Amino acid sequence: MAEGATGRKPLISGNWKMHNNHFEAIQLVQTLSYALSDDDYAVVDVSVHPPFTDIRSVQTVLDADRIPMLLGAQHCHFEEKGAFTGEVAPAMLAKLNVKLVIAGHSERRELFGETDEMVNAKVKAIIRNSMTPILCVGETLTEREAGQAETKVTGQVRAGLAGVTKAAVGAMVIAYEPIWAIGTGKTATPEDAQAMCAHVRAAVREVSGPDAAASVRIQYGGSVKAANAAELLTQPDIDGALVGGASLEAENFARIAQYRLH
Ligand code: 13P
Repeated sequence: MAEGATGRKPLISGNWKMHNNHFEAIQLVQTLSYALSDDDYAVVDVSVHPPFTDIRSVQTVLDADRIPMLLGAQHCHFEEKGAFTGEVAPAMLAKLNVKLVIAGHSERRELFGETDEMVNAKVKAIIRNSMTPILCVGETLTEREAGQAETKVTGQVRAGLAGVTKAAVGAMVIAYEPIWAIGTGKTATPEDAQAMCAHVRAAVREVSGPDAAASVRIQYGGSVKAANAAELLTQPDIDGALVGGASLEAENFARIAQYRLH
């Protein structure tokens, strides 16, 4: 069963942000794997995005127990190697079987000064290393109240996808995460989330053409939890969720992935 406009499986991603040491990470991913079954993986893709120090440990658990969860990262640098103290190269993640990397999360843009140009370079570097970017876009509350949400998001989509081939865009994921809904307990209404995700798809159509727009997966993120997952994830232009806080609780996150049952 595929929901949404693309006919592809929805992607439910857990962004752990700066939570969990590698022991806690192992425990969380194991508990999560007990809560999910083959029936779930048949209809949704599930990814977890632990901090860098946990990735090797989580990879080992997924491999050893043959858990069909996708391993993700939260960030990488856009250069292949070099004098970039503290940074991690995309190839290092690919070698750990990381499949998806978040690019341009609003926290990285706001707290660590990532510009549209850096995010675009990162998107290209992730693709060059045979991984899939999750490009994050979204407006602040001030921008929303000023009626600028669509303009902001269109600009971020255009900048993030500049110079990316149509085929690569079609295989990508874009996460619409309104900044005012992140970690606040405030969620966009299903109607607003749908309208903005449709807007993102229209922006992709304009930049990369109809085929890419038809197959790109668009996630909604911002205070998604078990209680609101179904109403958001059944909207036609929402192809998954990027989950922060609720992804740290195995049962809550599993229930989001099982939204079709609730
Ligand atoms: P919350 O689900 O905690 O609001 O976080 C959303 C987010 O930023 C996921 O990347």
